[in-house]
Amino acid sequence: MIQAPKGTKDLLPQNSGAWQAVEMSMRRCAALAGFREIRTPVFEHTELFQRGVGDSTDIVQKEMYTFVDKGKRSITLKPEGTAGVVRAVIENKLYADPLPVKVYYLNAPIFRYENPQSGRLREHHQFGMECFGAKEPSADAELITVLLGMLTELGLRNLTVHINSIGCPECRPRYHELLKAYLKANYDELCPTCKERFERNPLRVLDCKEEGCKKIAKDAPVIMNHLCDECAEHFAGLKSLLTAQGTPFKIDTHIVRGLDYYTKTVFEIIMQSEREGLALCGGGRYDSLVTQLDGPALPGVGFGIGTERIMMELLSQGIELPVESVCDVFVANLSADDRPQAFQVVSCLRDKRIKADMDHVGRSLKAQFKYAGKIGARHVVMVGGEEALRGNVKVRDMETREECETPVNDIAAFFTK
Ligand code: HAM
Repeated sequence: MIQAPKGTKDLLPQNSGAWQAVEMSMRRCAALAGFREIRTPVFEHTELFQRGVGDSTDIVQKEMYTFVDKGKRSITLKPEGTAGVVRAVIENKLYADPLPVKVYYLNAPIFRYENPQSGRLREHHQFGMECFGAKEPSADAELITVLLGMLTELGLRNLTVHINSIGCPECRPRYHELLKAYLKANYDELCPTCKERFERNPLRVLDCKEEGCKKIAKDAPVIMNHLCDECAEHFAGLKSLLTAQGTPFKIDTHIVRGLDYYTKTVFEIIMQSEREGLALCGGGRYDSLVTQLDGPALPGVGFGIGTERIMMELLSQGIELPVESVCDVFVANLSADDRPQAFQVVSCLRDKRIKADMDHVGRSLKAQFKYAGKIGARHVVMVGGEEALRGNVKVRDMETREECETPVNDIAAFFTK
C-alpha cells in the first residue's frame, strides 16, 4: 500500500476543526494589527533561497527540496516563508504604498529535508507575519505582542519570549573576530558540525545543542556587549516597549537563529512541553534582506510559527479548542418513500444556514438516530408517519429527549426562532 512520504502528515477531518479554530485566531489577531494576507507560490527559483536565506545555512546546504524542472530551471519548494514574501514585495512594488507594508501568510506549506522526529516534519505549515519599511523598535514589539496575544487567546500559558540582538553589518564583523578567537582556543572540543560552522557562521556555535559545545558557548563573548550605538539603542527601545506593555520576555544571548538574514532583534518562544530547545516560534529583524535581493533599502521584521507545534503545545497543556458542530439538525425518514420530503427539508434548512444532514445509505429509523447521535446533531426531525398526513413533522431534542410536532412548511422558522 502506498503510504504518505516520511515526515509528512495528513490533516484528517477529526482534527481539521481545531486547525480552523487556530486559523481564525491567527487571522483575527493579524487583522486587528492591520496586517493583510499574502500568498506566494509553493516553489520559487532556487537562487532566491541561496541568496536570501544564505548559502552557508543548514537549510540551504542540507535541507532543501530542489529539482530541475522540464524547462531546465532549478526550482526549490519553499523551505521558509520570508524570502518568497520579500520577492513578492519587490516584484509587485508593494513598497510604493504608504509604509509600512504589513502582511501575513497562513498555513503556508514549508518543506525541509530534516530527520523526522517529534515536532520535526519534512512538510510543516507556518503562520508568519512580516512588516516592511518600519525601522523603529515598536514594529518589533508589535509583532511579539500580537504573537503572544494570539497564543494566549488560544489558551496557551507560561509562554516567554526569548530575545537577543545579533547586531548589524557594522558591528557584527568585529564581534565575529572576537568570537572566533575564543572558539579557536576551544576548537578541539567543538562537535564536527560546529567545526564546520567555525569559518562559515561562528554565531551558530552559540545555539548548538551538543553538551560539549554548550559548555564552550557558556563563557563565549556576548554580542550584546559589542553592539554599535544604533543596535544598542534599538534593543533598549524594544525592551522598554515590552516592559511597559507587560509582555514577559527574557534576554537570551544564545538565540542566534538558523537563517543568515537577521540583523538586530532576534526572538524565539521555546516550547514548554517538548524536547529541550524546540522552538514554538522564531523571528527577527532583517534590515538588509530586501536590498540583498535587489530591492530598495527597506527594513523588515517578522516571525514564523509552525501550526503543528502549536497543536502539540495545545495538546500537552490539555487545551481543547471549541470546534464547530458537524450537524445541528438531522432529518430522519420513517420509510424510503419519505426520503424526497426529507431531502427537501434538509435543503430548506441549509438555505437558512442551519447545518442539516440526512441519511444517504438506507438506514433504519433506529440506525438513523444512532448516526445522528454520533455526528452530534442537537435535533432530529422525523419525516413521515401520521404527522405527515397532517402536514407536520416530529422534532426530537437529542439532549432533553423532548418531542414536539410542527408544520413542515415552517421548519426553518422553528429552528431559527
Ligand atoms: P524558523 O525558526 O526556521 O524561522 O521556523 C519558524 C517556525 O517553524 C519554528 O519555530 C517552528 O515552529 C516551525 N518549524 C520549523 N521547522 C519545522 C519542522 N521541521 N517541523 C515542524 N515545524 C517546524 C523561519 O522559517 C523564518 N522564516 C521566520 C521568520 C519570518 N523570520 C522573520 N520572518
